[in-house]
Amino acid sequence: MNLLIVGGAGFIGSNFIRHILKKYPTYRVINLDKLTYAGNLNNLKDIEGNANYQFIKGDIADERTVKKVFRLNKIDAVINYAAETHVDRSILDPSAFIKTDILGTYNLLEGIKEYKIAKYIQVSTDEVYGSIEKGKFTEESPFKPNSPYSASKAGGDLLCRACVKTYGLPIIVTHACNCYGPYQYPEKLIPLFITNIIENKKVPLYGEGQNIREWLYVLDHGNATDFILHKGKVGEVYNIGSGVEKQNLEITHFILDELGKDEAMIEKIKDRPAHDFRYALDCTKLKRLGWQSEYDFPSALRETIRWYLANDWWWKPLKSGGYLEYYKKQYQR
Ligand SMILES: NC(=O)c1ccc[n+]([C@@H]2O[C@H](COP(=O)([O-])OP(=O)(O)OC[C@H]3O[C@@H](n4cnc5c(N)ncnc54)[C@H](O)[C@@H]3O)[C@@H](O)[C@H]2O)c1
Repeated sequence: MNLLIVGGAGFIGSNFIRHILKKYPTYRVINLDKLTYAGNLNNLKDIEGNANYQFIKGDIADERTVKKVFRLNKIDAVINYAAETHVDRSILDPSAFIKTDILGTYNLLEGIKEYKIAKYIQVSTDEVYGSIEKGKFTEESPFKPNSPYSASKAGGDLLCRACVKTYGLPIIVTHACNCYGPYQYPEKLIPLFITNIIENKKVPLYGEGQNIREWLYVLDHGNATDFILHKGKVGEVYNIGSGVEKQNLEITHFILDELGKDEAMIEKIKDRPAHDFRYALDCTKLKRLGWQSEYDFPSALRETIRWYLANDWWWKPLKSGGYLEYYKKQYQR
């Protein structure tokens, strides 16, 4: 199979490419990525010499780039990971989110329509459903996005829905909960807190840290996407979750304990505007198809902490320069 992975130099996409090349030695992977601040070829250093792997630098918001990639390559399936993904950045400046998550998705959908691609997976988030106090979101739950990030992701997902209904395009949309694991840019809660503590810096916790997220190991997200690529039904939507719900404060304590520090390292900061209180996914549909998560939370989070401890060559350069300016702006809000 020839796979076009879009946004494969980011956190989840790079872990997925590694998984695919290892599990399916005959598959070919093209990785189309703009290399924004979050895209990093160091995420794929170990496979850059693989004969079945090719990297193309390009922006999906640019129609000509996307068309050229489809025209020049034989592609059986497309998986779109490309997005601007950080909620806090979307609050400071939503423009890139609109361009990539909506216009970029539109360009890819035009590509799969014109080149009659057999399968397209739109990788999306539980955040499009908004916040839920009790119970869980199913695939039928309405979209109620509360941040520019989740609104732009919802826009892309709705375009996918419209293309299924209007043109019968072979699209599957997935909504996953929060992921964690190696190669996650150290602005997201888990890698930010781990790397700050390793550097003996305080960890900025929003509000009282009561917000609840469902946490999925990135390799489980990869297994689920692999499963959906091969067994998922086109035109369908699938939630991908773990059932593991944790308050941000619990996650913080877990990381502090593992790294031998105490709560003196916590700096409570002003809460994020429109901060969703809780996300939780009902994944019955995917489980009925035969998928189940493989990794348990404490072991996978410990493994993640060990990875950041062993790989400061990867994250240290990311925590300098423009990164600091951005954080100053963010936490002074
Ligand atoms: N991280 C999570 O917890 C999570 C959970 C659910 C869903 N998702 C979704 O999964 C996908 C991947 O998330 P991630 O955490 O790996 O993101 P990430 O920010 O680590 O990576 C995004 C990648 O997309 C690339 N990209 C951005 N704009 C582009 C453009 N215009 N053209 C081409 N490439 C572009 C970046 O260079 C980067 O490599 C996103 O669509 C996100 O919404 C993420």
